Amino acid sequence: MARELTVGEVAARSGVTVSALHFYETRGLIASNRTAGNQRRYARDVLRRVAIIKVAQEVGIPLADIAAAFASLPEGRTPTRGDWGRLSRQWRDDLDRRIARLQGLRDGLTDCIGCGCMSIDRCPLRNPHDRLAAEGPGARRLVR
Ligand code: FES
Repeated sequence: MARELTVGEVAARSGVTVSALHFYETRGLIASNRTAGNQRRYARDVLRRVAIIKVAQEVGIPLADIAAAFASLPEGRTPTRGDWGRLSRQWRDDLDRRIARLQGLRDGLTDCIGCGCMSIDRCPLRNPHDRLAAEGPGARRLVR
């Protein structure tokens, strides 16, 4: 059986700071065992969990969603390749929505966004008399 890792070894191997690992642990995303001297020791599969957390965070998946996904695994096991496929499919729709929203933001920021400012020359054409205010607050062309 592989030797358990210290928090420093997990940090070095995963590229995540020790404080981030402690944070993940307080959120229930990873778990450790304690030695007789009350030091943390991690099973090696924590590296897979941390890698998945990092990737999911990079694409904007909230920590609460990652924790919920991990909690959905049988007996809290570390995701296998099959589990990872299932989890990533669950997140795909959410990612597609985020991508579409970001593309909309990217493409619309230089145009009238319907925020009510009426300060660019296209506002009288695209948001005459701030009519978009009737739809609600905020930049109406971006929040649709
Ligand atoms: S950019 Fe604000 S109303 Fe057009």
